[in-house]
Amino acid sequence: MQTVLVTGGVGFIGSNFILKARKEQWANIINLDKLTCACNPQTLAKLQDDAGYHFVQGDIGNAELVRDLLERYQPSAVINFAAESHVDRSILNPQDFIQTNVLGAFQLLEASKQYWERLSAQQRESFRFLHVSTDEVYGSLSPTDSAFREDTPYAPNSPYAASKAGSDHLVRAYFHTYGLPTLITNCSNNYGPYQFPEKLIPLIILNALQGRSLPIYGDGQNIRDWLYVTDHCEALYLILQSSRIGETYNIGGNNEQTNLTVVEKICAILDELVPTNDRYSSLITFVSDRLGHDRRYAVDCSKINRELGWQPNENFDSGLLKTIQWYLSHPIWVQQVQSGAYQTWIQQNYGDKVTVLSR
Ligand code: NAD
Ligand code: DAU
Repeated sequence: MQTVLVTGGVGFIGSNFILKARKEQWANIINLDKLTCACNPQTLAKLQDDAGYHFVQGDIGNAELVRDLLERYQPSAVINFAAESHVDRSILNPQDFIQTNVLGAFQLLEASKQYWERLSAQQRESFRFLHVSTDEVYGSLSPTDSAFREDTPYAPNSPYAASKAGSDHLVRAYFHTYGLPTLITNCSNNYGPYQFPEKLIPLIILNALQGRSLPIYGDGQNIRDWLYVTDHCEALYLILQSSRIGETYNIGGNNEQTNLTVVEKICAILDELVPTNDRYSSLITFVSDRLGHDRRYAVDCSKINRELGWQPNENFDSGLLKTIQWYLSHPIWVQQVQSGAYQTWIQQNYGDKVTVLSR
C-alpha cells in the first residue's frame, strides 16, 4: 500500500480524510500537524493502535523536520491540508496566515522538490504533491454571475484568501519551473463531523443547544456552496489516483444556500430532535458584518465530473441532519474543543460585534 504524508491531518477535513483512508485502506498515513488551538487531537485517538498511521507534531515550515520525514517514510504523495483556515481569525491576526499558508507551504514545497529529485525515475513519475485550496481565491460573485471555473481569475478579498492564493501560485510555479508533479484543488465550504465550532454550522448547532444567541453577520443573505466533507475526501482521493499533473480541479457541492437559510434549517432540525419550550430560531441575532465579507461563492465542478466522473453525493438536508446527530452524540469531543482558548476566541470575535437587529 502507498504511504502518504498528510499535513494538517488533525483538522476538520484532514482528519476525515485520514479516517476514511485508513478505513478504506487507501494508504498508510504519516500525519504532520502543528496542533494549533483550532483542532482536537482526540479526533484521531481511535487510530492510536493502527500500524498504518503515524502522527508527528510539527510545523510544515520546519524544513529540516519535513526533509527528515520524507526521507524516513518515503511517501509516494504529499497532501497539504495544513493551513490557518478561518477568515475571521485572518482579519484579527493576518500574520499567522502568511507564516503558515505562504511561507510554510513554500518550505513544504521546497523539501518535497528536493526529495522528489532524488527518487528513481519510476518513483518520480508516480509522485504527487496535492495542495488543498479554496474557492475563496476567486473572490466574490454577484447574484447573476456564473459559478467559479478553474480559469476564473484570482481575486482574493480576505487575508486568508490572499494567503491561500499565494500558496496556489507557488505550487503552480513549482510545477512549471521544476516539473514537480503537483495538483491543486479549490473547494467550497465543507460541513460534517469534527469541524471546529469557530465555523458557521458547528457554531450555530452548539450555541443553539446551549441556549446562546445565533449570530448572523450582516443581513444573512451571503451565499456559500456547501459540500459534505466525505464527498470532498472522495474527490481528493480520485484526483490523487487518476488526474493529470499540473492541473487544478474545482470541487463544490452544487448547493448554494444563504446563511440565514442554513441557520433556519439547523433550528428546524433541532426543534425536531431536541425540542424545548421555545423555537431555536428565536435565538437568531443579526450582528455587525464581517469586514470585506464576500457576498456569494458558487463552484462549477463540471471539470472533475467530466474528467474523473466525480459528483457530490450527499444532499444538504440529509447531510445537515447527519452533522447535527454527530454533534449530539459526541459531547466529550465538544467539551474538549470548547475549552479556555476557544472561550478567548469567542470573546475576541463576538465580544464587540454590535447587535443591529434581533428577532
Ligand atoms: P482546520 O483549521 O480544521 O485544520 C487545519 C489543520 O492544520 C489543523 O489541524 C492545524 O493544527 C494544522 N496546522 C495549522 N498550521 C500548521 C502548520 N504550520 N504546520 C502543520 N500543521 C498546521 O482546516 P480545515 O477546514 O480542515 O481545512 C483544511 C484545508 O482545506 C485548509 O488548507 C483550508 O484552507 C482548505 N479548505 C477548507 C475548507 C472548509 O470549508 N473547511 C474549504 C476549502 C478549502
Ligand atoms: O469557501 C471555502 C472556505 O469556507 C474555506 O476556505 C475556509 O477555510 C472556511 O472557513 C470557509 O470560509 P467561510 O468564511 O465561508 O466560513 P465560515 O463558516 O466562517 O462562514 C460561513 C458564512 O457564515 C460566512 O458568510 C460568514 C457567516 N458567519 C460565520 C460565522 C462564524 C455568520 O454569519 N456568523 C458566524 O458566527
